Amino acid sequence: MSKQEKQAQPKLIKVSEETHAKLAGMAKWNEPMDRVIQRLTLQTKGLEDVVAGQSSICFIDGQDGRLLYRGYDIDDLAQKSTYEETAYLLLNGHLPTSSEVRAFASDLASKRLIPSDVISILTTLPRNCDAMDALRVGVAALGIFDDPMYTQHERAVSIAAKVATVVAAIHRHKHDQEILPPKEDLSFASNFLYMVTGEVPSEADTKLMDVLLILHADHELNASTFTARVIASTLSDVYSAVTGAVGALKGPLHGGANEKVVEMTSEVGSPDKVDAYISSKLANKQKITGFGHRVYKTMDPRAKILKDMAHKFAKSDKEKEALQILEKIEAIMKSEKNLYPNVDLYSGLALNHIGVPSYLFTPVFAVGRAPGWLAHVLEQYADNRIIRPRAEYVGPLRSKYVPQEKRTSAEVKQ
Ligand SMILES: CC(C)(COP(=O)(O)OP(=O)(O)OC[C@H]1O[C@@H](n2cnc3c(N)ncnc32)[C@H](O)[C@@H]1OP(=O)(O)O)[C@@H](O)C(=O)NCCC(=O)NCCS
Repeated sequence: MSKQEKQAQPKLIKVSEETHAKLAGMAKWNEPMDRVIQRLTLQTKGLEDVVAGQSSICFIDGQDGRLLYRGYDIDDLAQKSTYEETAYLLLNGHLPTSSEVRAFASDLASKRLIPSDVISILTTLPRNCDAMDALRVGVAALGIFDDPMYTQHERAVSIAAKVATVVAAIHRHKHDQEILPPKEDLSFASNFLYMVTGEVPSEADTKLMDVLLILHADHELNASTFTARVIASTLSDVYSAVTGAVGALKGPLHGGANEKVVEMTSEVGSPDKVDAYISSKLANKQKITGFGHRVYKTMDPRAKILKDMAHKFAKSDKEKEALQILEKIEAIMKSEKNLYPNVDLYSGLALNHIGVPSYLFTPVFAVGRAPGWLAHVLEQYADNRIIRPRAEYVGPLRSKYVPQEKRTSAEVKQ
């Protein structure tokens, strides 16, 4: 066998019998075991399909487009649950009884107020700074000023409660408006909208906010949750884990996408311009935001729910036209690229409808995702081993150290 042929051969990794048995369960139809081992143990770029740990929090079926939190279907939760109940479910592993949910909701409500030191820090930030940068500062500051006597679980509830207050404070400070203290008698969703807009929202807007929070509450080992788990696995604290997660969520490939969808909708302008717009983007090999997903190979179930809701809430001409534009893009992406919408395609429409400005979309995503991050961090602590993978080294092995004065640029770049 020539050197080239040898290099083209898949590298085989020896695995224990136990690992072999586990990997066998992950084989695709008719896939030879060597291929499975190579696929799951070697470096697929971006860790695609790599199973990085066990979890009983969230299940995604990417082929059938199903999403379960603790076994409960997202369709049921979006229709029948509330943010409070879903957060309890994620954090505690079971649906609460009515007295449990009442106690949890009042605990959350009592923890909404953020320390005045955190407000002082947030109000020293430039009004035009990125809202996710400000949120990162706010969560990090909570780690210093939150009640030091909290248990680990109380800390998790406190963060879930306070992230919303931090986000609303960032928004009010940006617009030089009074920062509103939370109202304990409102539901989580209603109070959040109240703290942002200054008005107690209608029942319909509260329901929409509630559903948006539920839909974003968890999504298995997405980039920000994985970041949180890696940080927790070093036995660092919960605030550090959530601060790191906020940093990961900021990226446009993760949390920033729905804001870009709203920009794209107004760039397109009207439904008759969709064809030309998308063709030119695809011809230039540009990605269309709101489409594609690492796990879903069909329509993201959250996108389905949001699209159905959009048909009900979109009443103004502007909203109806935006919906038509998105649906037209959806049809073209399906026929041209066989790509389906992800959660971000229709969520911006819903957020704008309830008065959340586009620049606040990613921070609102963080408000929704906080219970998921926290459930994963607690799960990590409960059965911890430091997350410390290996890299396949592809650099030089025998570099010769040449003293600075004798180095040529060719040697340095070798
Ligand atoms: C979500 C996302 C980051 C997943 O990335 P990934 O699993 O690494 O997938 P890739 O970027 O490798 O995409 C695989 C192929 O589909 C194409 N593709 C994926 N998403 C696409 C999109 N939104 N528009 C056009 N083409 C897309 C890629 O160009 C690539 O094609 P190629 O194999 O011919 O090069 C990716 O689909 C994306 O960037 N989408 C747009 C941003 C977005 O909506 N993010 C929100 C995620 S919830």
